[in-house]
Amino acid sequence: MKNSIRKSIRILCISMVVIVFITTLLLCSLSNNNHIFSLQNIICLIILIIIADIFSNIVAKMIVNPLKKMEKGMRSVADGKIVEAKQLKEYGNLKEIDDTIEAYRLMMALIKKNNFDLNSQQSKTEIILEHMADGVIAFSISRQVVHMNKAAIRLLNLDSSEDTFEKIVKKLDIQIDFDKLMYLPNYTTYEVKLSVEDNALNIVFIPFFSDKLTPMGVIMMIRNITESVRLDNMRKDFIANISHELKTPLTSIKGYSETMMNGDLTYQEVIKFSKVINQEANRMGRLASDLLQLSRFDSKTVNWKKVQFPLNEMTTKVCEKMKFEAEEKRHTLEFFASDKNPMVYADKDSIEQVIMNILSNSIKYTPDGGNIKVYDGCINERAYIKVIDNGIGIPQKDLGRIYERFYRADKARSRQMGGTGLGLSIVKEIIEGMDGTIDIKSEVNKGTEVVITLPTKAPKKIGG
Ligand SMILES: Nc1ncnc2c1ncn2[C@@H]1O[C@H](COP(=O)(O)OP(=O)(O)OP(=O)(O)O)[C@@H](O)[C@H]1O
Ligand SMILES: [Mg+2]
Repeated sequence: MKNSIRKSIRILCISMVVIVFITTLLLCSLSNNNHIFSLQNIICLIILIIIADIFSNIVAKMIVNPLKKMEKGMRSVADGKIVEAKQLKEYGNLKEIDDTIEAYRLMMALIKKNNFDLNSQQSKTEIILEHMADGVIAFSISRQVVHMNKAAIRLLNLDSSEDTFEKIVKKLDIQIDFDKLMYLPNYTTYEVKLSVEDNALNIVFIPFFSDKLTPMGVIMMIRNITESVRLDNMRKDFIANISHELKTPLTSIKGYSETMMNGDLTYQEVIKFSKVINQEANRMGRLASDLLQLSRFDSKTVNWKKVQFPLNEMTTKVCEKMKFEAEEKRHTLEFFASDKNPMVYADKDSIEQVIMNILSNSIKYTPDGGNIKVYDGCINERAYIKVIDNGIGIPQKDLGRIYERFYRADKARSRQMGGTGLGLSIVKEIIEGMDGTIDIKSEVNKGTEVVITLPTKAPKKIGG
C-alpha cells in the first residue's frame, strides 16, 4: 500500500511524541513509583498528540503543496500549458523545497524556450508550405495524408475524400508501389510527368526517415511545368518553322539557278527565272530582317524614339504607299480622316510599320475588287486607328493564335502571297512597347476589323 508524504510525516511526528512522552513517563514512574496511566497523563498525551498532528500537518503542507503544484505544472506541460514557478513560492522557506522550485523554474524556462522555437519553426514551415506555388502532400507510414497544401489540392483537383496514398495515385493513374518506395534501398525517389486538366505536372515521390533507418512516410512534390513545356514546344516549333521557311525559297532558287546554268534558255525564260530567284531572295531577306527585329524585342534592346505626331498625316502617308498594291488587286482603299486630327505619342517608324502591316494583310487576304476602309479618331484621350476589309476573314479557332510567330490561318494563301507569318507578332510587340492595344474581330467570308489604340501624349512622370 502506498503512503503519501503527508500521512507519513503525521505518523512519524505523532509516533515520536508518543514514544518520547511514554519514555519520559516511564523514567518518572521508576524514580517516583507513580502509576503511568493516570487520567492526567492520558489527557496530557492526547493534547500532545493533537499538537503534534497540527504541527506535522503544517510541515507536511510546506513540503507537499509545492510538490503537488509542481506535479500539476508538469501535467499541464504535457497538455501544452506552462505553470510559472513563482506561483509555488508561497510555500517556500525550506531550502530543499526552494532548490527544487528553482530547478523546476529552470526546467520550465527551457521548455518554454524550446516550445517557442518549435512553434515559430512550425508556423514558419506552415506559412511556407501554404504559400508555395508547388504542391506538397505528406503521407504517413499508414499511407494516410498527414499534410496537404492548397497548391496540391488545386493542381491535382482533389476533394476531401481523397485522403490516402492509394486514392490519390489511383486518381492520377500513377503506377507506384508505396512499399518499394519506402523499403528498397536503391529505390529512393520516383519521378513522373503527367497532365491534369490543362496543366503539365512534374511529380516526385520522396520517402522520409526519422533517422537514417526508420521510415516515416512519403512526401509528394507537385510542380506545374505547363509554362516551361509550352516554351519548350514553342522553341522547337520556332526552329522547325525557320528551317522550313528557309528551305522553301532555297529549293526554288537552287532549282531555277541550276536550270539556268544548264543553258539552252530563251531570253524570256531567263527573265522569268531570274524574277523568281529575285522574289525568293527578297522573301529570305524579309524573313531575316523580321527575325532580327523579333530577336531585338526578345533581348529588350529596342530603342524607341517616342514623339508626339499627328495620326492623320501618318495614315495618309501609309495609304499612299499601299495604293499601288491595292490597285493591283482592284481594291478600293478609302481613308476617313478624323476632323480632330488626333495626336499620337509613339515611335513614328514603328507605327508606320504597324499600319502598313495591317493594311497589307487586308489587301492580301481580300479577294480582288474588295473594299478596305481606314478610320482614325480619339476616344477618352486615346487615339485609335481602325482598318476594315471585306476579305476572307479569320476562323474563330485561329483568332487567338494569329499573334504567334509563324502562325497563319490560311497557310497556302499566306505563302503564296510571300508572307512569313511574322507580321502580326511584330505588330503586337510594337503595340505593347507603345502602351497601346490591338483588337481583331473577324468573320469568315465577311471580313476583318482591326482596331489599334495608342496614347495621345507622354505619360505623366511620377512626382512631376
Ligand atoms: N485581314 C485579314 N484577313 C484575313 N486573314 C488575316 C488578316 N490578317 C491576318 N490574317 C491571317 O493571320 C495570319 C497572320 O498574319 P501575319 O500578318 O502575322 O502573317 P502573314 O501576313 O502571313 O505574313 P507577313 O505579315 O509576315 O508577311 C495570316 O497568315 C492570315 O492567315
Ligand atoms: Mg501580314
